[in-house]
This record gives sequence, structure tokens and C-alpha cells, in this order.
Amino acid sequence: MQNTDFKARREKVFNMMEDGIAILGSAKFVTRSNDTEYPFRQNSNFKYLTGINEPDSILVMTQKGGENKTYIFIRKNDAFEEMWAGKRLGLEKAQDLMDADQAFDIKDFEKEIPHLLLGHRNLYMHFHERRDIFDLAQRISGDLFNKKRKSTELPPSEIKNLGAIVERLRYTKDANEILTMKKAMIATDKAHRAAMAFTRPGRNEKEVAALIQFIFEKGDSQGNAYDNIVAGGNNANILHYIENNQELKDGDLFLIDAGSQLNYYATDITRTFPVNGKFTDVQKDVYEIVLESQKTAISHAWPGRTAPELHQSVCNVLTQGLIDLGALKGSVEENLEKGTFRKFFPHGTGHWLGLDVHDQNPYMDGTGNPMKFEPGVIFTVEPGLYFPKGDGEIPSHLQGIGIRIEDNILITDKGHENLSSMIPKEVKEVEEACEKDYITFLDL
Ligand code: GLY
Ligand code: MN
Ligand code: MN
Repeated sequence: MQNTDFKARREKVFNMMEDGIAILGSAKFVTRSNDTEYPFRQNSNFKYLTGINEPDSILVMTQKGGENKTYIFIRKNDAFEEMWAGKRLGLEKAQDLMDADQAFDIKDFEKEIPHLLLGHRNLYMHFHERRDIFDLAQRISGDLFNKKRKSTELPPSEIKNLGAIVERLRYTKDANEILTMKKAMIATDKAHRAAMAFTRPGRNEKEVAALIQFIFEKGDSQGNAYDNIVAGGNNANILHYIENNQELKDGDLFLIDAGSQLNYYATDITRTFPVNGKFTDVQKDVYEIVLESQKTAISHAWPGRTAPELHQSVCNVLTQGLIDLGALKGSVEENLEKGTFRKFFPHGTGHWLGLDVHDQNPYMDGTGNPMKFEPGVIFTVEPGLYFPKGDGEIPSHLQGIGIRIEDNILITDKGHENLSSMIPKEVKEVEEACEKDYITFLDL
């Protein structure tokens, strides 16, 4: 990505700020145990505004009298440290990458930040992330206030939420972001098809999980965007099942919710297919209901429409379906009014998608109304029906079935584009995909 893109995004932040200073921290390493750490994952807002992938970095943006300045605090190059832990960008390259006005050694943050803070009325910080920097900036502001009480150059007296500004900008994706997500979808598509081809009774969920991971890592993508859910049979009824270690049984369904990522941009796809490659009649009946609800919701994906409208359309179709299946009694209207479908469809219809799998974009517009879809908005549509084993209120022939179908939808000027339309979804397509030879997906 061009450094001008990061600068252009920061310009938009400046345009939404009133005179003030914005401070945004990078992610930090997180300890796994003793002296081992989890793989580093940059903070999405920081990545969005800087393009920088390093820990121990802080972005500072100042605006006064119409003059905008950007500073980056980051680790200096250090041959000894880099021998142990890998290359660092260093000050010069960081400044260049993000087109900042000046770069400082992160070790000098506490020395430099006081004079950057002085003379600004507003302090923009993320309210929920990097509370340590939030607390530090407030403490230093407090100390400055006590020292400089009689001066005209005072520290900020108002704190505003920088997170809300950046998350609003991230709501619509630009052409580059859309292209990145389309590229990430190539590995996601391949992995889902490979899983359908590879699966047979007697294999273990973990073998399929490993195959998916292999395809995610091997191609142009960069691993998984979240913990993949690889759930055979009744495990699909545990919504966040990630153990992924049970044997797959003949006659069961298999729910896989797995998405690759590229340059931090996520895909998030679910497919459900039969372990032995052929749906039973009852599995097909449930599958067709979920599929119809999903297609109905996607057909409402237009600029100006809202996520709750799509959710309502899903609830209508699922409720009718649940009555047809004998899982609910009474009319559609009375069941919708009581929300009885929630026992079988306990989650929402979707979420925003982008740098985060549950992308940090607003759901409400600030006037109490849901956000309207605009060209460039990307979200998931992921209805499901779940019938856990052992629940005596559920007809026995449905028990053990858990089905979700999830696609990623881009809103366009004219309507929408289904970014995952190439991944088998119709009953016939899925059964055909299960017949394929998985070796062809390995490309060894
Ligand atoms: N894979 C997480 C979700 O579907 O929301
Ligand atoms: Mn999702
Ligand atoms: Mn998902």
C-alpha cells in the first residue's frame, strides 16, 4: 500500500478533529507463559493509520490553527536486539512508510509528549484500548496543568474518543481494501473446497483443521483471521467450538467456519456439508431453510438498507421453516412476536468485516438509528439453525443437526457483490464438491 493512503486516512481524521492532539498506541506483545509470547498482532486502528506492524510504537497527531503534524514514536534500530528478535523498521523507514513529519525513539515518549500536549484543548484517545497510554497521557496532562496553571499554554482539558472517529472511517472500504479481501478469499475458497473433498467418515476434525490451515498458510494469504471452527455432528451446536479434535461420523453433518486473512484483512466463511458426501432428507430440509433465509437476506443488501432489515427477513424465513419442520407450533406471527426462533437461532445475522473479523465499525448512526448500507461496506450474512442432542423439547429426528451458511457481502453502487459466491453452497454443488479428489488442492 502507498504511504499516501495512510496520510490520506490521517487527513480524514484531522478533518473530523477540532483543534487538539491525538495519541494512538500500537499493540504490545502478549505473554503466553513465562518468557514465550503469542504471535504479534498489530492494533487494527494503528495499522489503518500508519501501516506499521511493530509493537512499542505510538502515533501522535496534532492540529492547531489549521496546521496538522504527524509524529511516530518507534523502536530505534539496534543490531544486538535485531539479531535476537528480527529486523526493526527504525526511525527513518517508519517516518517514510507512513509519511510522518518526524520520528522519535519510543524511549523518548515521556520526554517529548509534554510539549506536544501543551496548547491543545482536546485530547483524542481510544477509550478502550491501550488504557496504559490513556492513563499516562492524563497523568502527564495533570502534572502539566499543576505546573503551568498561570501559563497561556495549558494541556488539554477535554478528552474525546479517537476510536469513534477511526471506526467510522473504517466503515466503508476503499478499492485497495476490497481487492485485498478478494485476494484473501482465494485461499478461503480453496480451503473450504479442499475440506469438502478431504472429509470422510473416520477422519478427525483436527486433520481437516490442519488441511485448512495448510492451505491458508501456503497460498498468498497469511493464516487464519480467527480461530477456525471445525465442528462435526453435534459439535456444530456449540457456537464457538474450537477444540476441533473429534472423529467424524458417517451420517453426520460437518460445519466449518474458517476464513483466511491477507494484510490483516479478514474473510469469514461458513459452510456445512455431509461427512459422507450425501445429505439425508431431513438434513436437506433444514439446510434448504437456512439457505433460503440467507439468500433472502442477501437479496435485501442494497445501499440505504440496514442490518436489522436483513435480520428480520432471516427471522421470518427461519420461523416459517421451524414450523414446517415441527420444531415450533402455532402461527408465524405469534412465534415472531414471542421470538421463539431464538432457541434455534440464538445469534445475529451478521457483522461488519474488515481489518477485524468483527470489524470495529458503528452499528448505530448517533441519532438512535441503525447505520445505512453504503457502497464499500462489507458484512457477513450468516443465519443458522441448531438442534442440540439431548434436548427433549426438540423432535428427535432433528437432534444433532447444526447448520450455518455464511457469506461475505460488499455493498456496491447498484446493489451488492457476494465476495464468496464461488464457494459451493447449493445442495447439489456441495455434494459434487464432496466427490472431488482433495490431492488436487494441495498443489505440492
Ligand atoms: N467466525 C466468527 C463469526 O462468524 O462471527
Ligand atoms: Mn461471522
Ligand atoms: Mn464465521
